[in-house]
Amino acid sequence: MLLLSGPNMAGNEWKYVKDCLDTGWVSSVGAYVDQFEKMTAAFAGTRYAVATSSGTTALHICLLMTGVGAQDYVIAPNITFIATCNAIKYTGADPILIDTDAGSWQMDLNLLQSFLENETEQRNGFCHLKKDGRRIPVLMPVHVLGNICDMDRLMALAATHHLTVIEDSTEALGSFYKGKHAGSFGLLGTFSYNGNKIITTGGGGMIVTDDEALAKRAKHLTTQAKSDPFEYRHDEIGYNYRLVNVAAAMGVAQMEQLPGFLARKLEIIALYKKELEGVGDIGFQQVSDTVMPNWWLPTISTEKQREVLKVLNDHQMQSRPFWVPMNQLPMFVENIFVQTHNVSDAVYQRCLSIPCSTNISNEEILAVCDKIKGVY
Ligand SMILES: Cc1ncc(COP(=O)(O)O)c(C=O)c1O
Repeated sequence: MLLLSGPNMAGNEWKYVKDCLDTGWVSSVGAYVDQFEKMTAAFAGTRYAVATSSGTTALHICLLMTGVGAQDYVIAPNITFIATCNAIKYTGADPILIDTDAGSWQMDLNLLQSFLENETEQRNGFCHLKKDGRRIPVLMPVHVLGNICDMDRLMALAATHHLTVIEDSTEALGSFYKGKHAGSFGLLGTFSYNGNKIITTGGGGMIVTDDEALAKRAKHLTTQAKSDPFEYRHDEIGYNYRLVNVAAAMGVAQMEQLPGFLARKLEIIALYKKELEGVGDIGFQQVSDTVMPNWWLPTISTEKQREVLKVLNDHQMQSRPFWVPMNQLPMFVENIFVQTHNVSDAVYQRCLSIPCSTNISNEEILAVCDKIKGVY
C-alpha cells in the first residue's frame, strides 16, 4: 500500500528514542520535551512553545486560556477536520461556521467581514451576536492543508471586532505568510504531530505564543494544574495533556529533518502539477504569492472525484476525499452556517488528496499520475 501521508523516520529517531529507553526518561518530563519545545519556538518564530498530547488538546487548552465557555461562540471555517469543532464544543461553546473560498479552500474572508459587520455588535469590549446576545470571544482560522488566507486582512478584522485569534495551524508547520510562520499571528497557535502530518511523534501537539504568562499557564493546565513542586496541591481543574519524552525524542529527530521534508514536498507538488495540470478538469489548491505553503497534502479537484478515488484505492494508492463539511455533520447541522453559495459542499464533492509521503519516490508519483490519467 502506497500511503497517503506516512511517517518518514530517516534520521535520529532510533537513537533518541533508545536514549529515552536506556535512561528511563520515557514519561511526561525530560530533556527531549524541553528541546522539542525550543526547536519549535525557534522555527515558528515565537517566544514560547508548550508540547501537548495532541493537536486537539492544544486547541482545547488555547480555548480555555482565552476564557471561552458555555454559551459562547467561536468562529471557524466550515471546511476543516472535525477536531477544530470538537475542541470548541469541549468548552461548551458552539462554532459559527464560515463557508470556504472556492480557490484557496480557506475561510472566505468576504463572508466573514459581512457577517461581522451585519450580524454582530460590540459590548463591554467583546463581540456579540446581535440575534441572541451571545459572546463571540474567539476567531479560529484553520490553515487548511498548509495554505494560509490573507492574514493581514483577517487580523485587521479581528482587531476591529474585538476577537482573539487562535490559529488552528495544526496542518501548517513549515508554512509562511509574508515570511512569517503560521501560528505566530494570533495570540496562540497550534501544531499537530499526528502520524499523517509533515512531522510526527506518533501523536502529539504544540501550543506556540509570544505571551509568557499564557505559555506558563498552558504548561500548568496540561500538567493537572499542580501548583506545588512537592505536595499534590492543585489550584484549578487541570488536564493530563502532556507530551511524553519518548514521543518528544522522535519530535526532535523529525525537526532536524523538517527543512528536507519541506523541500521534498515542493518537489512532489511540482511533479504532480507538471503531470496533471491540463488533464481533464483537474485543478489544484490556489495559493497566493504572499504564501509559502508546506504542501502538506497535495489535493486535486475534479468532477470525477469518486472515479479517481476508486481507481487509486483499488490499486493500493491510498487516497482520501476531503472532510465532510461541518454543517453536514449531525452535531453541527443546527449551527450557524454563514454562506451564500454553499461552496463547501462543491469543494467537498470535488476534492481528493493523493499520495505524498516525503519518502515517496518520483516513480511512485508517476505511477499515481498514470492511474489518474487513465480515468480521463
Ligand atoms: C485542522 C486540524 N485541526 C486539528 C487537528 C487535530 O490534531 P490531532 O490529530 O493531533 O489531535 C488536525 C489533525 O489531525 C487537523 O487537521
